[in-house]
Parts: sequence; C-alpha cells; structure tokens
Amino acid sequence: IPFDCQCVRKVLQHNFPYEIAPDDTTLFIIAQEKFQGLTRDDWIAEATPLKDKNTIFAGLNVKVPVNCSCGNPDVDRSYGLFATYVVQPGDTLSTISARFKVPDQQLLQRFNPHIDFQRLIAQSIVFVPAKDSNGLYPPYSSGVRRSTIVGASVGSILAVLLAAAAGMAFFLWKRKHLQQDEKNDRLPSPAASSTVSALRKASGVLRSNISSTTSVRSAISDIALEKSIEFSLHELVAATNNFNETNKIGQGGYGSVYYGYFRDQKLAVKRMNMQATKEFLSELKILSRVHHSNLVQLIGYCTVESLFLVYEFVDNGTLAQHLHSTTRPPLSWSSRIQIAMDAARGLEYIHEHAKPTYIHRDIKSTNILIDKNFHAKVADFGLSKLTETGMTSISLTQPTRLVGTFGYMSPEYARYGDVSPFLDVYSFGVVLFEIISAQEAIVRTQSGILSNKDEQKGLATLFEDVLQDDTNGKERLRDLMDPRLGDNYPLEAAWSLAKLAGACTKENPELRPNMRTVVVALMTL
Ligand SMILES: Nc1ncnc2c1ncn2[C@@H]1O[C@H](COP(=O)(O)OP(=O)(O)OP(=O)(O)O)[C@@H](O)[C@H]1O
Ligand SMILES: [Mg+2]
Repeated sequence: IPFDCQCVRKVLQHNFPYEIAPDDTTLFIIAQEKFQGLTRDDWIAEATPLKDKNTIFAGLNVKVPVNCSCGNPDVDRSYGLFATYVVQPGDTLSTISARFKVPDQQLLQRFNPHIDFQRLIAQSIVFVPAKDSNGLYPPYSSGVRRSTIVGASVGSILAVLLAAAAGMAFFLWKRKHLQQDEKNDRLPSPAASSTVSALRKASGVLRSNISSTTSVRSAISDIALEKSIEFSLHELVAATNNFNETNKIGQGGYGSVYYGYFRDQKLAVKRMNMQATKEFLSELKILSRVHHSNLVQLIGYCTVESLFLVYEFVDNGTLAQHLHSTTRPPLSWSSRIQIAMDAARGLEYIHEHAKPTYIHRDIKSTNILIDKNFHAKVADFGLSKLTETGMTSISLTQPTRLVGTFGYMSPEYARYGDVSPFLDVYSFGVVLFEIISAQEAIVRTQSGILSNKDEQKGLATLFEDVLQDDTNGKERLRDLMDPRLGDNYPLEAAWSLAKLAGACTKENPELRPNMRTVVVALMTL
C-alpha cells in the first residue's frame, strides 16, 4: 500500500484517514487487525486527537499514523524505497532478508540502526529496502533532496509516492509462497506480517487501499500464527530464569505463574497442571486470535514436558491486590470506575464480539489485572473452555467440572451447572460490590448475639438490605463503602454503582442486564 511519507514530530510517518466501522469496538482492534500492527491505539488517539481512546463510535473519523523511512544516503544511496515491515515471531535478520530478497543482510542492519537483530522483537518495525514496480531498487537520490525531507518535518508534504511497488512486491511474494485460499475471510491476526511502503521518488501518488489486501493478509496470518505462537522450552527456561522461585508471581487453580522476559517483552508464563491434547491446541490457536485492549493477550504456548501458556505481563498487579492489600495506596474513586468500565468492556467483547464468543466462568478480582496506567484487563478468558476441551479428551467419562470461584459463582451455575453469559454478569456484579466496599467476595459476619459462630455471607447478600431500602439506603451505603476512600467519592454515583451491582447479582439470570447494558450504565456514572 503506497503512502506519502512526511515528517511528523521528527518521526517519519503518514496519517491515514480512517472511518471507524461498526465492528471496530476499540482503537486496539483498528491498530492490530485493520492495520495489522503497523500502528498502536495510543498513536491513533494522539494523532486524531482523541481525549478518551475508549470512547469511539462507528462513523467517527480518526487519523491512523504509520511510520515510514526515507532511507539514509550515508548508508547506501542505491536504496530509496522502503517497506515498513512488522517483525513476526521467529523472524531473524536472514529470514527477513531472504523474504524480501535483500541483496546484503548487513544492509538491513545498517538501515535499521535502532534494531538489535540478534534479539529481534516481534511486533517491532523494520524498514526494508524494496523494489519499485519495475523490479528495481530506486536510488536515494532519485527525486527528493535531503533538505526536502527535513523540510517535511516542519510541515511540507513531500517525499514519496509510490510504494505500490514495494507493497505489490511483498504481496506477490506472499501469494506465491503461501498458496492460501484468498477467500478465507477470517480476521487477520495482529501478528500478521504487513507492509506499507514509503518512497522517496516522486512519480505520482497511488491511493492506499487497506481492505483490498485483507484477504491475502488473512491467509498469511493463518499460517504465520501456527508457528509464531509456539515457544520452545529452552526459550521459556531462558525467559523465566529456569522457572526460578524468585520469578514466581502467583499460584492459581490451574498452576503456577512465572514472570519472564523474552525478546524485550515481559511475559507471564503459566505452568499448567495438565497436559495438552490436540483439541486443546486447536482451541488455543483460536484463543490467541482474540485481541482486545481490555483482555490479557495470550501470546503463545509450549507443550514440551508440561503445558505452558504464555501471556502478556500486566505490570501493576491484580484488582484484588489493589483493593485488599494495605501496602498499596487506595484506589481513587475514578480509578475504580475506570477499572470497572475496562473489565466490563473486556467481558462484553468476549460475550458479544469475539469469534467464537466466550463465557469466562471465572470472573473475580484476581482475574482482573491492572496496568501501569490503571487500566484493567480481564485475564484467563477462554481458559474454562480450554480445560474442558483438554479434559474431555483425556477422559471422555469425566464429567464437565464446575469452574469458578466460591463467592463469585452465580446460584444457577453453582446449583445446576447452568451456563450462560449471565453467570459472568453475576460474578461481575460481585466484583462491583468488591470495588465499592473493598470487602472479600465472602464476608464473615457475626450471626447473632447469642451465638459465637461466624456466618459466611456473599457480598450480594450483604448489600441486599441496603439496596432495598428506598428511604435510607443511600445513607446506609456509606457504612459499606471502602473506609480507605474516606469521603472522597460521590455518593450518588456510588449508589448507582451499587444498584447496578445489585441488578447484575439478581437471583434470576434472566433479570440481569447483559454486559453491553452494563457498559452503557457505567458510562453514565
Ligand atoms: N498476565 C499476567 N500478568 C501479570 N501477573 C499475572 C498474569 N497472570 C497471572 N498473574 C499473577 O499470577 C497470579 C496467579 O494467577 P492465576 O491465574 O494462576 O490464579 P488466580 O487468578 O488467582 O486464580 P485462577 O486460577 O482461578 O485464575 C495472579 O493472581 C496474578 O497476580
Ligand atoms: Mg487467573
């Protein structure tokens, strides 16, 4: 896809105009799926500009920046056209050189001084010398003077045109090598390779056409994905310091989680206490295609010796830690609302937009992770389906196990094993009560003056009375609020949030709102 390359804030880039489509639920999707990882959601928000990157709607026009290169005449003036290429897992200097038939591997290094090709990081961007439509490398000097490029940095549009050439070359390469069915219209993965080119030669602007290349990209991504998500045990051992105890960050129902660092990326490696089956692996591949900025991304897996799931590492702990640990500062009211909104959006996405859709079954405050900007991501979605798939194949006689956590489990699921998205809505309601009160999902209360026995109550039961008290409920709610909030919260909003939590935790699943309604309700707080 050809595009003009201009200097924007000292970075060579082009802003593509883009109208948000109904299926673009987040900027992250646009960045990763529509633009194949060539851009990032926060870049779009900044370039447009958007105040809140989470508030987008179909029909909204945004600017999507994509980086480009004008080469470097000090390196070699024979090259003036560059493809912007997103590094795929498993890529090396030689695979990229071979793929683009770059005559000299070292050229790549010299044109990309910022890249360490010994430790190539997936998703980083490499500029690759590319041929024009005549199959020739256009030289640097053909058309644009260096000063012109510098000029572009202060606003003049300049450089480039063409790149169709490089784009075409790359897509033809893909067609030839992959021989995939182009009609396959699965969503492209963000890990898919992509190319957009910038050219310094002035010879007529060709319009970019993202959608026309989508099917080809999809085919490529299908194949690329198969390999890219598989880690070797050696890589995981290296990443986690040999699964050192000091790298262990947690222990859950499915196994232990280790912090890892691999190719400049922070990972959470979950060592599962089960083996993978064929069905499990195919489910896993589907799962790794689900991308949303409010979901913890499954990056890959390894099946050697044990089963390992590799996730993106989320920096700032779990919601449970923020609410219940006194060593962390209390979450502000606005952070709490943001976290609730993020988690609701993640959940809405898996319920309604992911392909296939998922029911989480284990929504709780330890499965809501917080990043350094205090945005939340839902962890472990799809895991219940995965383990079910895995377990049925291990033993067909084994009944489907109830997954979920006491205190968060909806009554119909706990009693009858009834599965529907509304069981997640129930658990989410419990999380909302937890956000309001900072109490654990199960609270101990004194059952009566005459009895010394503690009674266990679910949070929904604890709030029930207050929520039904139309006269004094709002005032009584104050006693249930997290004491660490002090008076730093708006009572009206707290009341609305508690009411919403009450609706989510209704006994009858049919009376609960769906997650889309929950998201809308949270937006009004
Ligand atoms: N992607 C991640 N990034 C950062 N930390 C993580 C990540 N995934 C898990 N953790 C940490 O590891 C801990 C254990 O996670 P794990 O999912 O195994 O258990 P859990 O969430 O407590 O229970 P469950 O097994 O029911 O999900 C979490 O509480 C969290 O602190
Ligand atoms: Mg978890």
